[in-house]
Amino acid sequence: MSAVKSYIDQNKERFINELISLLKIPSISADRAFKDDVLKTARSVKNSLEKAGCRHVEICETPGYPIVFGEHIFDENLPTVLVYGHYDVQPADPLDLWDVPPFDPVIKKTESHPEGAIYARGASDDKGQMYMHVKAFEIMMEMGTLPCNVKFMIEGEEEVGSPSLDWFVKKNQEKLRNDVILISDTGMISNQQPSITTGLRGLSYVEVEVTGPNRDLHSGLYGGAVANPINVLSKMIASLHDENNHITIPGFYDKVIEATDEERKEMAKAPFSLEAYKQALDIKEVYGEKGYTTNERNSIRPTLDVNGIWGGYTGEGAKTVIASKAYAKISMRLVPDQDPEEITKLFTTHFESIAPKSVKVKVSPHHGGHPYVTPIDNIGYKAANKAYSETFGVPAIPQRSGGSIPIVALFEQELKSKTILMGFGLDGDAIHSPNEHFGILNYLKGIETIPLFYKYFTEMHQSIS
Ligand code: BES
Ligand code: MN
Ligand code: MN
Repeated sequence: MSAVKSYIDQNKERFINELISLLKIPSISADRAFKDDVLKTARSVKNSLEKAGCRHVEICETPGYPIVFGEHIFDENLPTVLVYGHYDVQPADPLDLWDVPPFDPVIKKTESHPEGAIYARGASDDKGQMYMHVKAFEIMMEMGTLPCNVKFMIEGEEEVGSPSLDWFVKKNQEKLRNDVILISDTGMISNQQPSITTGLRGLSYVEVEVTGPNRDLHSGLYGGAVANPINVLSKMIASLHDENNHITIPGFYDKVIEATDEERKEMAKAPFSLEAYKQALDIKEVYGEKGYTTNERNSIRPTLDVNGIWGGYTGEGAKTVIASKAYAKISMRLVPDQDPEEITKLFTTHFESIAPKSVKVKVSPHHGGHPYVTPIDNIGYKAANKAYSETFGVPAIPQRSGGSIPIVALFEQELKSKTILMGFGLDGDAIHSPNEHFGILNYLKGIETIPLFYKYFTEMHQSIS
């Protein structure tokens, strides 16, 4: 057994308990009611970094929630790894669909996690994955094997679109200077087949408001004679896809880079069972854009989805009413080279143009982000792959993900370094959903794999410079 592995073995109970303590703080960035908890989580992350041996740790104030910044520089001639992660989490609702309380972590054994998984909001996204880096750092410090310099940048606003990070990164280019950025905030194919995320989708997120009459009306007295904003909104939304599930917004696909046949062939080699996929979701049939496979639909193709829709009476029983207003929140996932601002404009123009005269519409943009793809011929990718090969016994395969981490494109642009997305979550971890969990095996494997990345990255970096 490797020295790292036996260190993990001896300390795993403590590693798990420390993560559980962190998961107990409800750091929901989207809800101001949790402000104190978000701030408390930042302090807790700072303490853990200090305890792990990080020389200089500070809480950097921003216009929003603070960024925990840590720095352990011991030799200017060695490369520097910048670790990014987030300590904020998604809201826990709907609460009644959780089998366990979201902020009182429970370990449960399941079919996909025979060794057990920690159930809690943020277990996988991203506290569990972020904390792997703190523990990996502790191990390298304790064993005296840290091969290079390290910086940590752990933010508290990722789940609300990182509104302060842009400002922070642009203002602190020197402070954040690094040779590679390392992030564990994505997933991998399975515990038998690790993968490295080579692409993220961008995002354009809008909220729409449709207003009909100036007040709620009796649906018997006015029904049929006045436009019902909920009916109108439903029709407008339905028209945003055609019969092939292509998005109908003019110009929407103009900048999409089509994958080549070769790229698609390569993608199709990744292990995937459509039957298991359907079974896991309890659906009889998958759905999506004509001409593309499920894995293409959820990674290399752009999408448009309603995330929430409301209006009218939703309380108990029946109320006969035509609401004055109807609303929806709509997200569009983007792929290279779509530009989030441009797409938001195209959406707005189109949505306004399809509104009948009987209603008024208002489109308000929320956060957005650029899509990202990275090549695999750089030493960061190679070092990660070598690390995975050692801990999982098989090389990792590159995989483009459907999720978004909007700041990754910004990092590349501002800090001029490559980002390596070493995710250890599984698709079934239910991130953002009730019963989010993170496999203990995944947590410990992550802690074991990270020091190997540092080692190989430093070796490869030294040999080319
Ligand atoms: N960690 C996720 C993104 C992710 C998860 C990427 C799994 C790939 C695989 C991140 O915390 C997230 O949820 N991002 C948001 C976007 C953000 C602007 C709210 C998303 O993808 O919806
Ligand atoms: Mn995340
Ligand atoms: Mn998330």
